[in-house]
Amino acid sequence: MNKKVIIIGGEGNGGVVAACIEDNRNRFNDLEWEVAGFINDFEKGKTINGYKVLGGTDEIGRLLEEDYFFMYAIHMIGRNVKSEEVFLQMNIPDSKFATIVHKTAFVADNAVLEPGVLVMSNSYIGPAAHIGKCSLVLANALIGHNTTVGALCHFSVGSITSSYVTIGNVSDVTLGAKVLEKRKLGNYSVAGANSLITHDIPDYEIHVGSPAKFLKKIKLD
Ligand SMILES: CC(C)(COP(=O)(O)OP(=O)(O)OC[C@H]1O[C@@H](n2cnc3c(N)ncnc32)[C@H](O)[C@@H]1OP(=O)(O)O)[C@@H](O)C(=O)NCCC(=O)NCCS
Repeated sequence: MNKKVIIIGGEGNGGVVAACIEDNRNRFNDLEWEVAGFINDFEKGKTINGYKVLGGTDEIGRLLEEDYFFMYAIHMIGRNVKSEEVFLQMNIPDSKFATIVHKTAFVADNAVLEPGVLVMSNSYIGPAAHIGKCSLVLANALIGHNTTVGALCHFSVGSITSSYVTIGNVSDVTLGAKVLEKRKLGNYSVAGANSLITHDIPDYEIHVGSPAKFLKKIKLD
């Protein structure tokens, strides 16, 4: 099977999604997905990482009529509310999202990946974990067993989220951050780079350090 994916985003997370698809194809002969191009409001008519930008987000309605699947790769750390706002405006049904897993990732057979999830190389999703819609799990990120993650979350490279953790929607566990077991991260929350989360993080808050402490609220626009 060869299903065409349009990546909504730029060269950052979007480039990672494209690289994941290409590596699965080229090194592992997994031809399920193929990159059709990008959607990006600021790069119309240009290319991103060699892929054609097919248009801006205003083209989504038209493209939904065609035989494409989508990956939502816009995730601005600290601007979590804006990331969600752009997502909601497009109104893409679940059935139109791809789910992309790199061939070197481990996903337990009873873990759930909702539509639109990316699991990049050498990542681990433990037994009975649940990863919400369009969440991005980047390379070498580990998510422990029985952990529940909401929609549109982002796990940066090398982050470790332990077991029985609960994470709301549109939240971040950033570069090398670690979350101890059974902790709760709210909606629009951020565990800063290299932080050790020993306590719960409320909605809209960024915490940093080891043990992590409140730094500031995220931007609301
Ligand atoms: C937490 C974070 C979002 C804050 O970013 P920001 O809003 O731009 O904050 P600033 O860089 O202005 O930093 C504000 C202060 O917090 C400190 N700070 C920022 N991040 C910190 C961290 N992770 N640990 C400790 N201190 C931190 C800064 O040193 C600065 O301190 P100062 O005021 O004494 O100089 C950012 O530092 C971070 O961790 N980003 C994650 C990066 C990442 O994962 N990228 C994705 C790769 S896949």
